[in-house]
Order: sequence, then structure tokens, then C-alpha cells
Amino acid sequence: MANVSQKYLIANWKLYPARLAEAKMLAGIAKKRANRCRGVLTVICPPAIYLAELAGRYSSQRLSFGAQDCFFEERGAFTGEISAQMIKDVRGQYVILGHSERRALGETDETVSKKVRAALGAGLTALLCVGERERDDEGRYLAFLDSQLGTALAGLSRQKLGKLLIAYEPVWAIGKGAESAMSPHDVHEISLFIRKVFRERYGEKVAFAVPILYGGAVAPENAAPIVRDGEVQGLLVGHMSLDPKAFGEIMGAFEEVGEGR
Ligand code: PGA
Repeated sequence: MANVSQKYLIANWKLYPARLAEAKMLAGIAKKRANRCRGVLTVICPPAIYLAELAGRYSSQRLSFGAQDCFFEERGAFTGEISAQMIKDVRGQYVILGHSERRALGETDETVSKKVRAALGAGLTALLCVGERERDDEGRYLAFLDSQLGTALAGLSRQKLGKLLIAYEPVWAIGKGAESAMSPHDVHEISLFIRKVFRERYGEKVAFAVPILYGGAVAPENAAPIVRDGEVQGLLVGHMSLDPKAFGEIMGAFEEVGEGR
């Protein structure tokens, strides 16, 4: 099972930066900072075309690389796709799957499920993203999350879960300012809910071992409270991961949390 005391900071660079030279500069800065930061494993997920160069050059014990998506087939006539094995082959170790921005482009729970299986089968660590588009007073968003998770995990055996991370990202917070992030209290509530979903399917031990990350408007000022009081094992960071100063501060938040324990 995944080690739940391990903390993760995953950077989702999306369709940035525009130039490889800038990507290298950002990765170089992140590597220096990550190597000094004991409390957390940092993972950068750049645009796939930069992955080989960055993972080959900047991977270290505390800095890993991953992709933002992968296809579920290993090979074939699938124009534009990349396979999990190809990611692995260029030293990528992680892959984000089911991000809401990919779902908005038409990806379904069923497709995400196939991708999760392909990624785990190739030996990658899969970061499965779930999250509701909006909240309601009747708690329908919980049923929505349950179904997103249920479909993505369908048929996945307990033995496969050691390399699965869950990222909870409320879609309404993504890309917004720090004040729009979910409160640590609410993050905690959701992490308990996700553990309950896992407990029902896989039992207590798995439920407490699966790392749960929060994403959506993470910034230096909310990172430490979310990790500490939200009781999550890490953060998935979008736009702030492209700002070296802010991203360094977010790494520092993990040291703060670690020292406080
Ligand atoms: P954000 O994005 O940090 O810019 O809100 C998070 C994400 O999309 O994963």
C-alpha cells in the first residue's frame, strides 16, 4: 500500500510554458528548492512534449516528473495519443488522469477508468482527479463523487492500489485566487468521505493508506492550513506552480507542517 505519511506536491503545468527554454528554467529552480525540502516529494507534470527532456535532466530523489494524461491502449492507430509505457520510457513516473479540464473536453468516467488501469499496468503512479462542478444543499455532490470514484475504480483489485493517488479538485475552485480554495475544514470532510468510499469497496486498511490530495486555487497562503487541517497527503497545484517564488513557498509550507507535528 502507498505510504500515507509521504506527502506529495504535484505541479500541473497545463499548456504552459510556451517555450522549452522556460520549462527548463522552471524545472531547474524547482529542483534546487525540492532538493532542500525534506517534507515532500515534488512531481512536475509539464506538457508531454517537454517530458523526456525535463525528466531526463532534472529528476532527483525529491523531484519526479509525470504527464497530464495518457491513452489507454499501448499502441495502434490512435493519432495524437501517447501511451503509459511511453511516459515510463522517458523517465516519467506519474500521470494525472481525469482532470476536469480533460473531462470538459469530453472524457468520461469510463475512459478515465481504462486509463487508470493502463497507467497502473505500465507501472506509473496514477493521480486520479475527481471533483464536483457545483455544490448543492442536498449533498448531491457527494453522490456525484461516489459515482466518479466508483466508475474509475471499477474492477480494480486491491493489489493495484499501491500506486494510486486521489486528487480531489472542486471544479469551482480551479484557476481562481487563493480566497476561492476550499476551507481546510471542508477539505477534511471530503477526505473522510473519500476514505469511506474506499472502505466500502476495499476495507479499512486500504481506506487509510490511499493518499488523498487537494487541488483548486492552492497558493502559498492556504497550502499549510489545507495540508495540516484538511488532513490530506498533498496538493495538486496549477497556475501557482508556474510562479517559481510562489511554488517555492508552497514547498516550504510542507516543511512548516512537518515541523509542527
Ligand atoms: P489551480 O489548478 O491551482 O490553478 O486552481 C489546479 C488544477 O487544475 O489542477
